[in-house]
Amino acid sequence: MIPRETVDKIIDASRVEDVIGEFITLKKRGVNLLGLCPFHGEKTPSFTVSPVKGIYKCFGCGKAGNSVNFVMDHLQLTYPEALKWLAKKYGIEVVEREITPEEKEHQNERESMFVVMQYAVNYYREVMRSTDEGKSVGLGYFLERGLREDIIEKFQLGYSLENRRAFTDEAIKNGYQPKYLAQTGMNVISNKYVEGTELTGAFLFDRWTSRVMFPIHDDGGRVVGFGGRILTNDKNTAKYINSPETEIYNKSKILYGLWLGKKAIQKMDVCYLVEGYMDVIAMHQAGIENVVASSGTSLTVEHVKALHRFTKNIVVLFDGDAAGQKASNRAIPMLLEEGMNVRLLTFPNDDDPDSYSRKVTAEEFKHYLETNTQDFLLYKAQKLTAETKHDPIKKAGVIKDIVENIALIPDAITRGVYVKECSGIMQLEERVLQSEVNKLRQTADAKKGRGKENRGENTITPPHPDEPIPDFPPDEVVKQEEFLRYDADERELLRLLLNYGNVLLTIEAEDEDFVKYDFEMTAAEHILFELWRDSITFENPIHQLVLDEYESLLEQERIPEVNYFAQHPNPAISNFVINSIFNNYELSKKWTAFGVYVNNEVWQLKKSIQHVLYSYKESKLHNIILERQEQLKTVSPEEEEKVLKDLVTLTEHKRRVNRLLGRIITK
Ligand code: UTP
Ligand code: MN
Repeated sequence: MIPRETVDKIIDASRVEDVIGEFITLKKRGVNLLGLCPFHGEKTPSFTVSPVKGIYKCFGCGKAGNSVNFVMDHLQLTYPEALKWLAKKYGIEVVEREITPEEKEHQNERESMFVVMQYAVNYYREVMRSTDEGKSVGLGYFLERGLREDIIEKFQLGYSLENRRAFTDEAIKNGYQPKYLAQTGMNVISNKYVEGTELTGAFLFDRWTSRVMFPIHDDGGRVVGFGGRILTNDKNTAKYINSPETEIYNKSKILYGLWLGKKAIQKMDVCYLVEGYMDVIAMHQAGIENVVASSGTSLTVEHVKALHRFTKNIVVLFDGDAAGQKASNRAIPMLLEEGMNVRLLTFPNDDDPDSYSRKVTAEEFKHYLETNTQDFLLYKAQKLTAETKHDPIKKAGVIKDIVENIALIPDAITRGVYVKECSGIMQLEERVLQSEVNKLRQTADAKKGRGKENRGENTITPPHPDEPIPDFPPDEVVKQEEFLRYDADERELLRLLLNYGNVLLTIEAEDEDFVKYDFEMTAAEHILFELWRDSITFENPIHQLVLDEYESLLEQERIPEVNYFAQHPNPAISNFVINSIFNNYELSKKWTAFGVYVNNEVWQLKKSIQHVLYSYKESKLHNIILERQEQLKTVSPEEEEKVLKDLVTLTEHKRRVNRLLGRIITK
């Protein structure tokens, strides 16, 4: 357990724009910040962050929350994990007890997996630093390739010993469970193991032997996998052995180097995309940090989306060899389709970023990057046109190729620019090229069922007319409706309470002699008094939870504002308040227009409160009356009289409330 004071400290320190800014690029829009939503694929930003309120909301997919929710959602962490993550970011010390073996047992699976991964990183680093084999073979290899010590440390590189049980034995000795060693893919299970029997260390062996180890991190900096490179030139063994896909390592999402590079990517607003682990590392050594590689798989759409959160400018630096060509032929259409601006950089004589960087100084390397990137499409058009100058048939093929590429670009204006430029290069009429592009777009649109022009991603699809309507039994419907009615009223009361609790209202009252007089009380006191007077508790437990806390604060003469609950340490409360209480329009561009409405609301506040209160009381009374009527059917003759009397009073109450309600509505 993290002590409450520490939790408060962490939440106070966690500026929402700062936390989210670690993961996506945010641009200022008035009082808010805007970026691409990390929770759903989008190409035009609708993810809004309000530093003033300390919350975010996506107008595309509806996700909303505070800093802690964001970290939980985005990094797939539990609540305590998210707090610890934030504490680390802000240098807040979290004092935690040493965990007992029983507690270790109970730690949730994912956390245990992360713990194993962290142990493994330290283990492989340590082996490289302090065993003879590690120093001479592993460290020797990296130094031989020209890596600096600080870079070896920065990437947490390590070495796996020749002995195929070295890691396994050490991990078991240190209390790591065979189950998690296998689940993380750090170990391989022997085929002697019989499914269903106890998995002991004896059935495990190391996945990597005699390899240099490259840990792979998620963009929060946690290790999720490894790539291990062989040190020989043995063509019969894979050059790299990578971790398998696991519950914490999603290969199609994780980009190698993103955790170290994301700040630089945001700052430079461009990212270099390279092929290999060593390329990323070599670029860092040359002082270039805005670089990533796909890890252990070829590039996927999800990788591209992960990058798009930080920038839309990509420079592709794939090798000039056949494999590199194939990789870029696959990757570039995906990048274009995601709306990225794609530039290309090639190195002389089949060099890759790593080999080239070792031939020149860091300054020369940087200069080379800055002066040699070319726009991908224009470069391609130029190169292919030159190559097919005297071959009309081949030239036709080239045109088709270029047209296909241009047609992938989602933005019409950008497409138009390329059509113009490319038609110039290829000496074609612009009109011809444009019509070819349009034809392709239309067929693609028809296939994908998308509307005109890149629409559809932010709109909510209505349910399909053929979808069956859920079939409730009749009284279920009644209950459902009743609950919804309660729910809406309760929510509205809480909304008024949290937004306007401190507004002073003038209330009419009567003294014992029925003399009318005015007195002032806060809206908070007014609402709570009315609920208390009729001993009303909320039907929805989360509503009651908020109400209870509000009441106890009020007793301490504090009137909490909506932000207090939006930043509440109980994620159930903060989630509820952010999603149901904050006016949905508040963060939208129409905010200024809404200022008028808010003023009106304060003006009308007393009326609004009374309206909701009476409506709520009316439905409660209605329900009790129904219950009593039901009772009448089965009640004993002795009790009948009491129930009947109750019914009369209740009905009288209901009539009074209805009258008040009517007065308020019509007034
Ligand atoms: P490369 O063969 O270009 O390797 O593969 P590299 O990273 O440049 O390594 P060096 O310079 O030879 O040491 C590019 C990437 O493809 C993946 C790895 O992620 C590698 O970094 N790969 C390659 C594998 O996963 N397995 C392999 O067997 C080979
Ligand atoms: Mn290489």
